[in-house]
Amino acid sequence: MELMDKIISLCKRRGFVFQSSEIYGGFGSCYDFGPLGVEIKNNIKKSWWDEMTKLHENIVGLDASILMSSEVWKASGHLTAGFSDLLVECKKCHKRFKGDELKEKSKENCPECGGELTGSKLFNLMMKTFVGPVEEKASPVYLRAETCQGIYVNFLNVLDSTRLKIPFGICQIGKAFRNEINPGNFIYRIREFEQMELQWFCHPKEADKFFDYWKEERLKWYERLGLKKEKLRIIEVEKEKRAHYARRQIDIEYNFPFGWREIEGIHNRGDWDLSNHSKYSGKDLKYFDDATKEKYFPYIIETSVGVERSFLAFFIDAFEEISGGRTKTTESTKELEVVLKLNKSLAPIMVAILPLVKNKEELVKKAKEVYEILKPCFNSQYDEVGSIGRRYRRQDEIGTIFCITVDFQTLEDKTVTLRDRDTMSQIRIKTEELKGYIQKNIE
Ligand code: GAP
Repeated sequence: MELMDKIISLCKRRGFVFQSSEIYGGFGSCYDFGPLGVEIKNNIKKSWWDEMTKLHENIVGLDASILMSSEVWKASGHLTAGFSDLLVECKKCHKRFKGDELKEKSKENCPECGGELTGSKLFNLMMKTFVGPVEEKASPVYLRAETCQGIYVNFLNVLDSTRLKIPFGICQIGKAFRNEINPGNFIYRIREFEQMELQWFCHPKEADKFFDYWKEERLKWYERLGLKKEKLRIIEVEKEKRAHYARRQIDIEYNFPFGWREIEGIHNRGDWDLSNHSKYSGKDLKYFDDATKEKYFPYIIETSVGVERSFLAFFIDAFEEISGGRTKTTESTKELEVVLKLNKSLAPIMVAILPLVKNKEELVKKAKEVYEILKPCFNSQYDEVGSIGRRYRRQDEIGTIFCITVDFQTLEDKTVTLRDRDTMSQIRIKTEELKGYIQKNIE
């Protein structure tokens, strides 16, 4: 089985990611995150949010609505050619293709049904809906295609309600929607996704300096969360390929099983957004510097990453398969074992509590007591089904950091074994010391 097939299969089997609307045959390019997937997603978002708002100075958060005035998207350039793909359409099955992606021989005919293709035309990626009680009379509104526009239209509100002075940042996590023509590679390119975006407002003269600063900071974040250094690279995007608003753009790429692909974009957006919103709204969005008496449009350095894309990179990076298994002492070693070596701050389950056997009432009772103590503090699972070896492997496969086994010695001296996912080493520890030990060892 190919690596991506293994990842997709594990995601479904263990409840990380499901196809949207599966019981109706699935809904294209949308995915649902299951009980374990949502924990990882929340952990990624928490790590990013803490990084921005706690570990950096002068960054505040925002949560803007998805639906906004359509004027926003006129001003941002998203309703025009800047956010459109040049496509050809099949006259027979009406499927659309990016012209440059059609192979030489199928340039004239549809690769799906052989039908005749139209000439290229622009196809906008914004998703449209209607707001108002009567659909025919309601004006079209758009589902946001990037979260950052909600930040720009609140630039004055944030300035007026805080004491922030330039340079400062506003960050946001939220859903974005794009009618992607070629979605695919599982959750890599989807039509509904979440973005984590920082908009850093600075003096134009300092934009280059902050661009380099944020590039380094963002790389450090991935490395801190365990992505292998050799699987990450930075690509400077040439002028012709940049987003319509970008004066400079780099992509942080990860080496996926399907090749090097972007996981994050860092852009110097110059004054594109604030000056256009000033023009379209009639509100003066220039910044006035009290100290220098200078009035200017700040430049914006943006860092933008998709939650699902980074999820996929973290997941693939953590996935390890060991043929023959890691345990060399028992028969069960002959199987193919999977360990999900997710960073401790991303793992969906921190600790699993396992009674050695389930048919000894005292052991089960004690194990449940330990579970009750730990579950308010850590994401915990209680599991009594199957042999202890099998249960360890079930936990390894979902990335559980520690397994605690309650055995007969526990009943005598109140100690349990605590097994580490990565080293498989076991220590004996008093139940009353568990909380402190785990806390210390997950930081
Ligand atoms: N505000 C800037 C912006 O949206 P982008 O390069 O279009 O820039 C930034 O998108 C990030 O959002 C990408 O690097 C990717 O992580 C994520 N992203 C964009 N389109 C996506 C899609 N269709 N599916 C999943 N993630 C996507």
